[in-house]
Amino acid sequence: MKPPVFLHSWVPDAILEDLRSRFEVDHVDVFETGILPPDEFARHAEGKHGIMVLAAPVGAELMKASAGTLKVVANVAVGVDNIDVSAATEAGVQVTNTPGVLTDAVADFSIAMLLAVGRRMIESDRYTRAGKFQGPSFPLFWGATVVGETLGIIGLGRIGQAVARRARGFGLELVYHNRNRVDAAVEAELGATWLPLDELLAAARYVLLLTPLTDETRHLIDADRLARMRRDAFLINVSRGPVVHEAALLDALQRGVIAGAALDNVVLTPHIASGTVETRHAMVRVAAENLTACLTGAPVPNPVNKV
Ligand code: DGY
Repeated sequence: MKPPVFLHSWVPDAILEDLRSRFEVDHVDVFETGILPPDEFARHAEGKHGIMVLAAPVGAELMKASAGTLKVVANVAVGVDNIDVSAATEAGVQVTNTPGVLTDAVADFSIAMLLAVGRRMIESDRYTRAGKFQGPSFPLFWGATVVGETLGIIGLGRIGQAVARRARGFGLELVYHNRNRVDAAVEAELGATWLPLDELLAAARYVLLLTPLTDETRHLIDADRLARMRRDAFLINVSRGPVVHEAALLDALQRGVIAGAALDNVVLTPHIASGTVETRHAMVRVAAENLTACLTGAPVPNPVNKV
């Protein structure tokens, strides 16, 4: 009998076919259904040996209820904040993720966000579409300079380093903050200087958040930290939303604590940093490889926990 698995994800046909040849597949295409409510998710997960999951929370209760049966939760993302990893470890469930395949897409997007917010692309687009542009007008939508400005990256991991390489091409000075400094050789290659968080916030014109969401980073950027930023600074959050205290950010924007005092100087995107055709296919492929490896006894390419 084929091991039963639950795929809570969009899955391209070729990968679905491959998984169906190995497993008894229960597939919910979340692109069509949206993320299932927890009770429905739990119903689908019941008795399954593997779960491939996009975005839905997989908590301690489900891990406990599935202990002994469930072997793997293959996340279709690099961030695993939707999964209770320590409960998984306790229940002997392997958690995997999809590092690497989205690095370039997210790094490109980070630069796109920086340019869009600094050069006021969204406001200008809205203004022009509204038919307000009456011909050349000199002081119109003046934005921020990029070349020679300082970019502060909070979270200089794989993606942060890819952004840093791109940033050099834009003539940005680079400072970063990580709990642990990266190797001196990497700092030298990137021309990146480590700073304590508060010093970074005070120095950077552009502050880019690329940190995972953990108990430590939740609300890392709160009212106090926003107040430490330059008044002409831009905050670019490409990490999970709760890394920033949303109400504090709104207040800071409204009061001009950081640049973009008006709300229309904010660029909002629907979680598409890794959203290229190639990257999203690769993420599902990697998640499927992780799921398959766990259930066939092969070496697991991207384990998150040790079981
Ligand atoms: C990730 O990999 O964590 C991304 O947020 C998915 O889009």
